[in-house]
Amino acid sequence: MFPSINPTTTKSWQQLQQHAEEMKKVHMRALFAEDKERFSTFSIKFEDILFDYSKNIITEDTKNILLQLAADCKVPDAIKAMFNAEKINVTENRAVLHTALRNISGKPVLLDGRDVMPDVEAVLNKMDHICRQIHSGEWKGYTGKPIRYIVNIGIGGSDLGPVMVTEALKPYWKEGIHPFFVSNVDGTHIAETLKQITPDETLFLIASKTFTTQETMTNALTARDWFLQHAKDEKMVAKHFVALSTNEKAVTAFGIDPNNMFEFWDWVGGRYSLWSAIGLSIALTVGYDNFTQLLAGAHAVDNHFAQTPLENNIPAIMALIGLWYGNFFDTATEAILPYDQYMHRFPAYFQQGNMESNGKHTDRTGVDVKYETGPIVWGEPGTNGQHAFYQLIHQGTHIIPCDFIAPAISHNPIGDHHVKLLSNFFAQTEALMNGKTEAEVLAELKSANASEEEIKRVLPYKVFSGNRPTNSFLVKEITPYTLGSLIALYEHKIFVQGVIWNIYSFDQWGVELGKQLASKILPELQNEDLVINHDASTNGLINAFKSMRK
Ligand code: F6P
Repeated sequence: MFPSINPTTTKSWQQLQQHAEEMKKVHMRALFAEDKERFSTFSIKFEDILFDYSKNIITEDTKNILLQLAADCKVPDAIKAMFNAEKINVTENRAVLHTALRNISGKPVLLDGRDVMPDVEAVLNKMDHICRQIHSGEWKGYTGKPIRYIVNIGIGGSDLGPVMVTEALKPYWKEGIHPFFVSNVDGTHIAETLKQITPDETLFLIASKTFTTQETMTNALTARDWFLQHAKDEKMVAKHFVALSTNEKAVTAFGIDPNNMFEFWDWVGGRYSLWSAIGLSIALTVGYDNFTQLLAGAHAVDNHFAQTPLENNIPAIMALIGLWYGNFFDTATEAILPYDQYMHRFPAYFQQGNMESNGKHTDRTGVDVKYETGPIVWGEPGTNGQHAFYQLIHQGTHIIPCDFIAPAISHNPIGDHHVKLLSNFFAQTEALMNGKTEAEVLAELKSANASEEEIKRVLPYKVFSGNRPTNSFLVKEITPYTLGSLIALYEHKIFVQGVIWNIYSFDQWGVELGKQLASKILPELQNEDLVINHDASTNGLINAFKSMRK
């Protein structure tokens, strides 16, 4: 096991504090002017992905001290510990092995002395088999019709990954298959979905690692009731409901045939589970072969992450840059901005990935940290974001490091759309870096014949300080393979940051309290009694809710 190290006690952390004070006086314009090789120095090509991190407030010194921090915090040991199936998820006493789910190397992965790969491969074969049955029309619904609708019922990690990937891979959808995703316990979500499907042509995938999650179980029961109202025969449930879970007992208790259960294991974190049986909705939507391409792309990045020295290791560099701003420039948020409409759920997916993994304030010795940990992650696809929140990124008082992601080749090469889209991508990162000086604004106003009075009035508002950091990911094309790679890069970034912050990235106790309280409050909403046992605000709100419904 890698040791617990408070990063602030390392010499490199202290050096970074001093160095940051100097770097805050440096403008990236000057860094680019000084070094014509800056782009090649600070960019890494991995297969069809170009990662350019040159538009950051860093020098080679910065990079070296950050790398020293990673070494001081034993990041290489931590990487080995994860791949070697050590129980690094200490608070749940589990290994962290989503990498085994995409281990196409043929090599064993030993957990407690036992190879997990035969189990992984058996489930993959079962997924392949059902995909063939559904796509060929061999699997029939209760009226003898083939399956056309796939409804994944799950939430959090049992929803966001499959939604994000199926959306991102829309050009690969199998003809005749329509996926739907129901997550919210708000009855509207399932009601609106049921309106769009027919019971005899639908396969419901009940996706829940624990098979106890309130939202999922509620939606699953509603789906089952709706189905039985039409099919009127319990025996038909087997043709229309499958479970994706680790909990066979609960799956059987729900009434799903264990033969219709696609298993995964406690060493797969919910938010890292799209590679497991939880990815069945993906495989059914884009085809099993494309699903294996997704796994292959991620596996290639796993190899890169495990084998590349940290100075050229993309996830490590992504992590160190994020930490540089979060811990030494006091930035609180990071934006992920895909310039690809199909990737519109990528920021939401990594919002969970980051915030559920690294939103922690207790370190690996059980003590409160005295430094910032996981950032707030958010984002929307470009160019929509440009017309909504980029104003603040350009001229607001907060520095928001941004990741720009775009494919060079569009799946929809219509007219000049794609070059226009990409011209915006390049222009934004350039503008954020360079800004616009007072002299440039003045020259511009003068050449537009603005009066002295006009110049005085508008000049300060038109100045952009620039020096706003961005990473750019230019991908040849968004294919199942490159998407798998991109996802794995971000997953490993989160891992490296968690190691350096000395926190446990693979538990999520913070979501428990709200769940516990909700189950206490639920019965209070189901009777007429006045509620008095909470604080005044909660009592007041609950009682107002009850009286509004009378
Ligand atoms: O939100 C908490 C959480 O446990 C997530 O980590 C998880 O992805 C989600 O709930 C769903 O859990 P399950 O797959 O067990 O239904």
